[in-house]
Amino acid sequence: MKNNIILIGFMGTGKTSIGKILATKLGCAFIDLDQKIEADNKMSIPKIFEKYGETHFRELERQAVKEVVKRHGIVIATGGGTIKDAENLRLLKENGVVICLTADIDEILSRTSTKGERPVLDNKNESHGDRRLAIEKLLEERKQFYDQADYKVDTKNWSPLQIIEDICQYLNR
Ligand code: S3P
Repeated sequence: MKNNIILIGFMGTGKTSIGKILATKLGCAFIDLDQKIEADNKMSIPKIFEKYGETHFRELERQAVKEVVKRHGIVIATGGGTIKDAENLRLLKENGVVICLTADIDEILSRTSTKGERPVLDNKNESHGDRRLAIEKLLEERKQFYDQADYKVDTKNWSPLQIIEDICQYLNR
């Protein structure tokens, strides 16, 4: 496998879990960008946001993207906001097949409901603590970036294995 396979998509669409299974099926390495940032900085993402703020996190994220795209033949799961950055998106598209996982708002809401894990949603003051509204706004803002994927898979009614099967069919086309 020459190209990397890069999973993008909103928080809660299953990038990490699908990425792991996909990599196992393809017999290649898997890197989760958020986990790499946490390991490199010995700090959880929520803690990085709390201590240093989002701007700093995005800087670490850009650095991590630059490093992972040097690899070949691996599966990479990005964070939900990684593709907001034009250079990140360019590098990822240049170095792999970009697949976007999608889910509807109710699904995303239920999969991201635990407080303290998703600082971007927890910190959305302008939505007055309304998580659904915060998700709607972010989905709208980010649609233009997710739309740049080579392929999209809706994860709502499918099992992980069906999703993997669909991705593999697309890759083998
Ligand atoms: C973020 C998504 C998170 C993580 C960080 C910011 C975002 O990743 O990178 O909390 O801006 O959407 P997941 O999509 O894996 O939750």
